[in-house]
Amino acid sequence: MNKILRKEQFSENVFLFEIEAPLIAKSRKAGNFIIIRVDKNGERIPLTIADADVNKGTITIVVQRVGLSSQKLCGLNEGDVIADVVGPLGNPTHIENFGTVVCAGGGVGVAPMLPIIRALKAAGNRVLSVIAGRNKDLIILEDEVRVSSDELIIMTDDGSYGEKGVVTVGIETFIKQEHVDKVFAIGPPVMMKFCCMLTQKYNIPTDVSLNTIMVDGTGMCGACRLTIGGKTKFVCIDGPEFDGALVDWDEMLKRMGTFKRAEQEEMEHYEQ
Ligand code: FES
Repeated sequence: MNKILRKEQFSENVFLFEIEAPLIAKSRKAGNFIIIRVDKNGERIPLTIADADVNKGTITIVVQRVGLSSQKLCGLNEGDVIADVVGPLGNPTHIENFGTVVCAGGGVGVAPMLPIIRALKAAGNRVLSVIAGRNKDLIILEDEVRVSSDELIIMTDDGSYGEKGVVTVGIETFIKQEHVDKVFAIGPPVMMKFCCMLTQKYNIPTDVSLNTIMVDGTGMCGACRLTIGGKTKFVCIDGPEFDGALVDWDEMLKRMGTFKRAEQEEMEHYEQ
C-alpha cells in the first residue's frame, strides 16, 4: 500500500501525485518507470517517474485521465492509498555530455522529460528545451523545466501561450539556431514519430521513450513488444528508450489501437 501525500490538478484531465515509495525514491534514475494498480483487481498502468525526494521517501508521477484505470487513479485524493506500486522498472536514460541537446516534451510527456533534462544539465550539456501542449492549460512543469534549461521554447497549438504551432516547429528553431548533437523526444507516439522524421532530415540522433501497453513489466507477457531496427524488443526490459530512427512507428500506432481516433486527429494535425 502506498499513500498519496500530495495531489495537484494541472488541467481538466492532468494530475500530479506525490506518493510514498521510499525504496523506489532511493534507487530510481532518469528514465525509470513504475507500474501502478489502483486496487487489487485493477489494470496495470505504466507511468514514468517525474521526480523523487529521497528524504521524504516519495516519488512524483503525472497522470492523464484517458481511460477507466487512469480515471480511478485520478479520483484518488491526498491520504488515499494505491494498492501497489512496482519499480523502478526499465533501463535508465543513457546520460553523458553529448554537447548541445534538445529536449522536447509534448503534453504529459514533459513529466518524464524533466528528470532527463536535469540529468543532462548535471552532466554538462547545453540543454535547449521545447515544451508543447494544445493550449496554455496543457503546458505543465514550465518553471521546473526552465530552471534546468539553458533556453526554453513553449509551443501551443492555438497560440494561447508561447509560440503558435506544434513541437517540431520549436525543435527546428533550435536546429537552425545552432549545432545540435542529440535530441530527446517524449510525448504521444505520433508526436515522437514526427520529431524523428524531422531530426533524420538533419542527421541528428534522437532518443524516444515509448509508453506502450504493459502488463507485467518484466518481459514475461509480451504485451509491450515492438519492432525496433527489424528485431522484436520488449519495451519494459529493453527500453523504454530507443533510437527513434529504428522504431517501427506504424506498428506501434497499430498496437496502440485503443487510441486510434485520437491518434488520427494528432496525425492530421501534424501533417498540416
Ligand atoms: Fe510484459 Fe513487457 S509488459 S513483456
